[in-house]
Amino acid sequence: MRTAIYPGSFDPITLGHLDLIVRAKKLCDRLIVAVLVNPGKKYCFNAEERVELINKSLRNVPGIEVKTFSGLLADFVQAQNADFVVRGLRTVEDFESEKAMAWANEKLSPQLETVILLTKPELSYVSSSLAKQIAMFGGDLSAFLPQSAVDETLNRLYNKH
Ligand code: PNS
Repeated sequence: MRTAIYPGSFDPITLGHLDLIVRAKKLCDRLIVAVLVNPGKKYCFNAEERVELINKSLRNVPGIEVKTFSGLLADFVQAQNADFVVRGLRTVEDFESEKAMAWANEKLSPQLETVILLTKPELSYVSSSLAKQIAMFGGDLSAFLPQSAVDETLNRLYNKH
C-alpha cells in the first residue's frame, strides 16, 4: 500500500490545494493531508479550523485523511510510514523554494522522496495569502476558495482590519 503526504499550512485550503489533493490521491492508496501547526506562526484559522475547512471541502473525495503535525515534516513522514511527499508548483518562484525544501528533507531523511505536481495553469494565480487579502475587503472569493471555505474566510477577515 502506497502512502503519500501532502503537507501545508492550508490557511485556508484553496481551489489549488483541492485540485492537488484529488490528483495526488490517484498516485497512492492512502493520502494524508498534513496541516502544519507552528506555534511561532500567526494563522488566520487555528489548526482545528483548518482541518475542518479541509474536511468540509473534501466531502466528495473518499479515502483521504486529514491530520495535523508539528516539528519536522521528515519526522512526520517517517512516523506515518509514508512513501513520498507531494507538493504543488505554481510559478518559477515556487520552484526555488520547493527545490530547497525537497533537498532539505532528503538530507534529513535520505529515503524521503518528494513528488512535485504542476498546478493547473488556470489555478496558478491562487494562493491562501491572496485569498485572505481579497477577503479583508469583501471581494469575490469564488475563484480562489472552495465554496465551503468562502463564508468562513469572509466572516473571519472582512472589515476586521
Ligand atoms: O503551505 P506551505 O506554508 O507552503 O507549507 C510549508 C510546509 C508546511 C510544507 C513546510 O513549511 C514544512 O514542511 N514545515 C515543517 C518544518 C520542516 O520540516 N522544515 C524543514 C524542511 S523545509
